[in-house]
Amino acid sequence: MKILVVGGGGREDALAWKLSQSRLAEKIFIAPGNAGTSMRGENVPISADDIDGLREFALRESVDLTVVGPELPLTMGIVDAFEEAGLKVFGPSRKAAQLEGSKVFSKELMTRLGIPTARYRKFTDPVEARAFVEGLNSQVVIKADGLAAGKGAIVCQTMDEALKATDTIMVKRAFGDAGASVVVEEFLSGEEASFIAVTDGTTVLPLAPAQDHKAIYEGDRGPNTGGMGAYSPAPVVTKAMEREITERIMEPVVRAMKEAGTPYSGVLYAGLMLTENGPMVLEFNCRFGDPEAQPILMRLKNDLVEVLLASVEGRLHEIELDWDDRAAVCVVMASEGYPGSYEKGKEIHGLDEAVKVEDVVVFHAGTAEVDGRIVTAGGRVLGVTGLGTDIGDAIKRTYSVVEMISWEGVYYRRDIGAKALRR
Ligand code: AMP
Ligand code: GLY
Repeated sequence: MKILVVGGGGREDALAWKLSQSRLAEKIFIAPGNAGTSMRGENVPISADDIDGLREFALRESVDLTVVGPELPLTMGIVDAFEEAGLKVFGPSRKAAQLEGSKVFSKELMTRLGIPTARYRKFTDPVEARAFVEGLNSQVVIKADGLAAGKGAIVCQTMDEALKATDTIMVKRAFGDAGASVVVEEFLSGEEASFIAVTDGTTVLPLAPAQDHKAIYEGDRGPNTGGMGAYSPAPVVTKAMEREITERIMEPVVRAMKEAGTPYSGVLYAGLMLTENGPMVLEFNCRFGDPEAQPILMRLKNDLVEVLLASVEGRLHEIELDWDDRAAVCVVMASEGYPGSYEKGKEIHGLDEAVKVEDVVVFHAGTAEVDGRIVTAGGRVLGVTGLGTDIGDAIKRTYSVVEMISWEGVYYRRDIGAKALRR
């Protein structure tokens, strides 16, 4: 089979790495890919949101299966466009992807289904939003309605911060039109977990739970990023909790989407806060987590092409997942300054030695090849991911490889996985 992976981040490198191991895969294309994906298959210079360009390419090359990594093309309708052209594609339709594309849509659905989530109010008028915030005396989270690359939720400790966040999103439009409406929601405390499942619109197949590290600094301090590291399994999510999340959150959502005539297939990812009162949903995403996909896919023993094909063909009930008992930890190496502005084009050293270490994979994110050298080309640059007998061992092995790699202005958190060790 010919397989096309859409995207160019760490998640897409992990997908390409795993798909390329399939006995069914003859050829892997990655559009646009990065310096790492060119080692797993062939990079194609078409951007992930150029839907017409991607469709033309897939038709010309007779691609048998397309796997979409990022949310943007999904919310733009890449799946609808490919299906209309008779192409097989893994991911939700434009309407189904609203579950991530609109916070208001997903909050309304959760409220209707009685799925535990933070109490909230939505606003399209900044004056009304301010008046509401002024009437509150507790901590709140202010969220842009639309997509904002993981940065559109601002956690506010004081009313002053909340008023400023409302302004930043609705008036200054820091996230563009994504901030035309906002959700103001109650602050939830607890530990976060990423619960990711594959679904064909009927069957829900949960993947191993993972935990992300969203904040830029150690100790979960500082502004949120796309994610600075992750590990799987997540000991905080017990077997009983996994069942509860599947039956009380994931399955009802998939059932409701089908009943509404907008069946949801692809990846359904629930960002959860594990509170004193049980798991509550912070948000839904319509794609694999990045960096959660990296440790999860390192632990998955199944042929990924078989799993994704079964989802596309509506026969996911035939699949049973098989996991490596070992733990996997992914440490994201980033450019100094991220999630704010940063420099690009720094030569990366130490990769040749790093890739030789067994049971550790260096996934690429923001990298590019220039004149035979690999240089930085984004905020999150690499995701070093290692397996170990337990989380502690995986942390040790992963950081030993992280320390082999360097560039001018490299930044990474030194405490990825520490949370799991404290348990
Ligand atoms: P979201 O984009 O909705 O997932 O929010 C991004 C991040 O903001 C989450 O991963 C949490 O760390 C934080 N967050 C969002 N909503 C809440 C909430 N209601 N209470 C506490 N933290 C939150
Ligand atoms: N790592 C968080 C996300 O993919 O949304």
